[in-house]
Amino acid sequence: MGNDKRRLIAGNWKMNGLLQDAIEFMDAFGGNPAPDHVEVGLMPPFTLLHSMSERLAKMGVTLGAQNVYNEDKGAFTGSICPMMLRDADCHYVILGHSERRSIIGESNAKIRSKMNATWLHGMEPILCIGETLEQREKGITNAVLAEQLAILKGAPKDKPLTVAYEPVWAIGTGVTASAQQVTETHAFVHEELTKLGHDCRVLYGGSVNPGNAAELMACPGVEGALVGGASLKAESFMEIVKATALVVS
Ligand code: PGA
Repeated sequence: MGNDKRRLIAGNWKMNGLLQDAIEFMDAFGGNPAPDHVEVGLMPPFTLLHSMSERLAKMGVTLGAQNVYNEDKGAFTGSICPMMLRDADCHYVILGHSERRSIIGESNAKIRSKMNATWLHGMEPILCIGETLEQREKGITNAVLAEQLAILKGAPKDKPLTVAYEPVWAIGTGVTASAQQVTETHAFVHEELTKLGHDCRVLYGGSVNPGNAAELMACPGVEGALVGGASLKAESFMEIVKATALVVS
């Protein structure tokens, strides 16, 4: 099930991080080059992209952004367009994160149009999908995920894509999905992606930390992690990278 894919450990800093935090993170991370078979990515806030891009590139860390606007330029006060992200050497763009779906009200249609804009400018979306606790308890997890993935219908098959399965109830809560839940859900997500004609990496996200990374990264169909809280400190982020490297070595 796609386990020959290169793992990606991506840090999503969300709305955290000042310049000093970025410098401390890079100082601490600097002496630890990523192992060949694990790619390391970092998605700091927009304000840190330019100041981090050069040093991260030297360390072999791939830069990404947490959002993008679906227009090229113009009167869209407060928005950031794909070319601005390219200008800061971003490769990844997180799209459809549950915090943007639930707090900002981002729709599947909007996410698809941001995905097109991301592809148009040569970047790779990390499409986040996930069910709420209520949806899991109602037994409609697969239906919810299938609907979120359906935005890929008609999308070009030759564009770079990573999907992140993040159960909403596991994000920032300290509760992780069990290995069985992760394995079953990733199998379903891979099946749906195959039906849609996409053979891409599927990351797991939701309270991944140094203590649970090895177990989660060993689940079949899991090809990396999207890490929130534990990516803010270089030490814990490095431990997750190392645990992943051991699992796949
Ligand atoms: P968390 O966040 O690791 O803090 O749970 C993950 C995410 O939202 O991407």
